[in-house]
Amino acid sequence: MAIDSTRFLEDLHKLRSFGASGVGKGVIRPAYSAADIAARQWLAERMAAAGLTPHFDPVGNLFGLAEGASLLMGSHSDSQPEGGWLDGALGVIAALEIARSSDRPISVVSFQDEEGRFGVTTGSAIWSGGLALDQADALTDASGIRFDAARASMADLAQGFVDPTRFKGFIEMHIEQGPTLDAEGEQIGVVTDIVGIRDMAITFLGQQNHAGTTPMHLRRDAFQALALFNARLNDRFRNVVTPQTVWTIGRVDLHPNASSIVPGRVRFSMQWRDGEPDRLLRMEEIIRTTAQEVATEQEMTLEYGPMLGLEPVAMDPAIRAALEHGAQSVAPGKWRRMPSGALHDATNVARLMPVAMLFTPSINGISHDFAEDTAESDLIAGLEVLDHAVGLLDVF
Ligand code: GLV
Ligand code: MN
Ligand code: MN
Repeated sequence: MAIDSTRFLEDLHKLRSFGASGVGKGVIRPAYSAADIAARQWLAERMAAAGLTPHFDPVGNLFGLAEGASLLMGSHSDSQPEGGWLDGALGVIAALEIARSSDRPISVVSFQDEEGRFGVTTGSAIWSGGLALDQADALTDASGIRFDAARASMADLAQGFVDPTRFKGFIEMHIEQGPTLDAEGEQIGVVTDIVGIRDMAITFLGQQNHAGTTPMHLRRDAFQALALFNARLNDRFRNVVTPQTVWTIGRVDLHPNASSIVPGRVRFSMQWRDGEPDRLLRMEEIIRTTAQEVATEQEMTLEYGPMLGLEPVAMDPAIRAALEHGAQSVAPGKWRRMPSGALHDATNVARLMPVAMLFTPSINGISHDFAEDTAESDLIAGLEVLDHAVGLLDVF
């Protein structure tokens, strides 16, 4: 049976309706939210209709299992707190379309909490053995909810963990989430490798006080400490980073966040990404040294949360070659090889089996935003490349 691009797009739009934000094509479907669980239950029905056996594991990863040995394809269906309709969803629905049209045995997966409400690619990290379940259970989200409490909300659906040896490889299609393909007018990116990441919370504890009466020289102001830390860090990183290195303070919880109170505490996320493990380590040293220095100078107590991380990984040459062959056939002269600066479940799955990834363009390079979008003709081109590549693979 040939792939059906109309059915593929209809299912992609249907998935968007779970947690549709009302702004453009945006979605609000964080892991374990009501919208996420409802979307997973709908996906399980679509998997069953495709002849696959739906299977939820103890952390909410949803598999659609083909009988016997198979190729695994998919991504995730949870979203960022403010997300787009394609991040993760594209890879899951494309996998479903390939599974129901291919004469090859294809299983489908939607991993849970790829977007890191609790950790970093939490569901696939646990399934792959990269993160122990009891360690994950103690992780908390930004509002203090524990992972074990969140996953309990799906306990009535849960069966055991799926044995990974039944899968012969993994392919994840995803939007690029960056500007390269769109700026160059290209349709397909074949991923060469995925960068590594480190992520941890840092807290400066000073003294909360009255904003009118406390003289400037007596203040132990947590916001001032964060501002100084950020400026110093940017300066010190200059000698260490490359144009591809990125770092982000994306979440700041300033306490008590009131205009007439000198803030006594700031807890913030510190995340950094690069393709070289040595550089990630060097950056960590600079972060810790700078934070300690600022804490001493500003009379702050310094605390670190657990540091989560994933190492950089290279894609499997054989599966990658099949994707390149597909790209050349579907989009001659309009594809490239490229690294992934975004994280993906494929990083974790690479611990278990050969993996490869395919990108489609992101309009204006925007993602993790309601405005995220891709031309439907590019989504279909990606699906065609997958279909072509699966036909070439001899991993079965
Ligand atoms: C995944 O969404 C990432 O943060 O790269
Ligand atoms: Mn994603
Ligand atoms: Mn994402």
